[in-house]
Amino acid sequence: MNKNPLDMTMAEARSELKRLAKVIAAANSSYHTADAPEISDAEYDRLRRLNSEIEAAFPDLKRADSPSDNVGAEVAEAFSKVKHDVRMLSLGNAFEDTEVDDFVGRVRSYLGHVGPLAFTAEPKIDGLSLSLRYENGELVQAATRGDGETGENVTHSARTISNIPHHLDNAPDLLEVRGEVYMRHDDFAALNERQIEKGEKTFANPRNAAAGSLRQLDANITRSRPLAFFAYAWGALSEPLATTQLAAVNRLRSLGFQTNDLTKLCASAQELITHYKSIEEQRSTLGYDIDGVVYKVDDLELQRRLGFRSTTPRWAIAHKFPAELAWTRLRGIDIQVGRTGALSPVARLDPVTVGGVVVSNATLHNEDYIQGRGNKGEEIRDGKDFRVGDWVQVYRAGDVIPKLADVNLAERPDDAAPYEFPTICPECQSPAIRDDGDAVRRCSGGLICPAQAIEKLKHFVSRGCFDIDGLGNKQVEAFFGDPELPVKEPADIFTLQVRDADNGLKRLKNRDGWGDKSTQKLFAAIDEKRNIPLNRLIFSLGIRHVGEAAANLLARHFSSYDKFIIAMDEATDRDSNAYQDLIAIDGVGEVFANSLVTAFSATSERASIDRLTQHLNIQDVVQADTGNSAVAGKIVVFTGTLEQMSRAEAKAQAEAAGAKVSGSVSKKTDILVAGPGAGSKATKAAALGITVIDEAAWLALIAEE
Ligand code: IVH
Repeated sequence: MNKNPLDMTMAEARSELKRLAKVIAAANSSYHTADAPEISDAEYDRLRRLNSEIEAAFPDLKRADSPSDNVGAEVAEAFSKVKHDVRMLSLGNAFEDTEVDDFVGRVRSYLGHVGPLAFTAEPKIDGLSLSLRYENGELVQAATRGDGETGENVTHSARTISNIPHHLDNAPDLLEVRGEVYMRHDDFAALNERQIEKGEKTFANPRNAAAGSLRQLDANITRSRPLAFFAYAWGALSEPLATTQLAAVNRLRSLGFQTNDLTKLCASAQELITHYKSIEEQRSTLGYDIDGVVYKVDDLELQRRLGFRSTTPRWAIAHKFPAELAWTRLRGIDIQVGRTGALSPVARLDPVTVGGVVVSNATLHNEDYIQGRGNKGEEIRDGKDFRVGDWVQVYRAGDVIPKLADVNLAERPDDAAPYEFPTICPECQSPAIRDDGDAVRRCSGGLICPAQAIEKLKHFVSRGCFDIDGLGNKQVEAFFGDPELPVKEPADIFTLQVRDADNGLKRLKNRDGWGDKSTQKLFAAIDEKRNIPLNRLIFSLGIRHVGEAAANLLARHFSSYDKFIIAMDEATDRDSNAYQDLIAIDGVGEVFANSLVTAFSATSERASIDRLTQHLNIQDVVQADTGNSAVAGKIVVFTGTLEQMSRAEAKAQAEAAGAKVSGSVSKKTDILVAGPGAGSKATKAAALGITVIDEAAWLALIAEE
């Protein structure tokens, strides 16, 4: 049949590439237009592989319409959602050397590890993460990180990146390679020059340029943008790559990926910091942007044991480079009202470049900060306050919102007056109150405050919450003020379609920015989210102190909305069992519990929640893969010293097996795991007739299927 590409002449290769381009394009279009594709999937894959092999042997002959760059099917799928088999996580940050010591200390104490412990240290590339999926050695899909669980399909773009292999030899059958797409400084400068020549917009920095180039529908444009890829991690795998981080990355390199040469194995916090300093010194000569150094536990078995906290691994951390600074003029102070009513002062500045990014707004935190006082009332900046007209220093660390750090009093205009923090809400004129011990002044208007209502809605539709396609901040703002089809609270989103159909006035599809298709799509996206997991619902309500991790905790604890809401009603009485139960959940404190219970007992807020839940089908929490576990659903308390593992690891392991870990013994406790030195909890458990076991028995129990 086909000749081995390595035995082909130039002429043969050229004509074979031409034939393949045609056959594969025909197969792509028949795949799309007809129900029955003309060739089998296996044959299709073989043709594509042959095409890649010839291109590898004769790189100069690669055609402009090469099938390896883009496929009809892929472009049609461009930006469609891709659910990651293995979540794509972010990293916790460290800024100070002491935080690196803390990280190493935390790893050791979690593992109860005293012997030698190795870490890798490597540059943190300032680009965008990408996951490349290879099946049987062929690149089949590329996806962005998105919210970590679901990203966007960018296969068509990824194929144009020259150092991403389309084909791998001797790779696991299934291999997801993860890494960073970035743009080199020289390529970035040249791209901006070309953009200027063409009269098109320039990019602010290499990272934005890389992002804009990857999210391109037209693969020809992406190809003209000089992107590159560093591999540093992996997702789903059919077999392990190696037993250590370093060996796994080396394996990726031998498969043909670019990996970072500055990766080094270190044996202590001190060695990590030394390598960090060395990378920092080389930073300006690397030719690409980095914003820190990433440390990872080298042993992959230890990585597995360490596992994750809600969105970040326990086994890795990013040690960021120090913030960048610049001086400029403070032109004004505006107050923004957030979703929980917090009044946040924002500095309006003469635009200034800080570390390559133009900054014209910065946070001023709260009224004490403006006056030169810290959170505990202590003096900061030698007590100097900020005044409109001041010459101020802007500070920016990585992605963190820029803040005002300092002021030069010698440059203060004579007429600059101390700033008076408002005591009424600038949005709804309700009193803005500062509770004892709270650094923040809050609008007391609740849902009558339009700013709070709108911010709550924005939170509600955001990623991690209801995440409704086609309903972002812009649309929320437009609907909020819409006289005919207003959306003032979450429930209104779910009545939009019915109200639109009833509406004798102008239909949504006939409005500016909307059409038949986009309206249908919006209604479909809303309908899709009528089914919502309990944890997402709780997080979406935007209750103060109830973040994503807390919502997960509550959902796991109560498992169904019915049980949750009954508990909330009962817990209004602080002496009730329900309230005691709530604060006994490991990880729930009084502040959190009070905020939660208050939200559910405040009549207008509660009514708004009840109006919303009528439209929803709230899914119970399914305990993942723990159905068979002997401890699934059981409430467990640990006390005394554990000898095999730390308390933190024991807790994570118990939760992974479907148990709930509580901090105190009550009638509801199922098992007390008591190590040496157990005291009052063991006595109480015995009195209540609760099963008390030792650590060995516990380990045997969770090992049972
Ligand atoms: S490891 C489970 N290594 O930083 C952790 N990430 O702030 C997987 N990044 O989303 C990430 N360089 O996009 C890792 N050498 C490196 C990195 C790196 C850049 C990015 C990555 C991640 C983000 C977290």
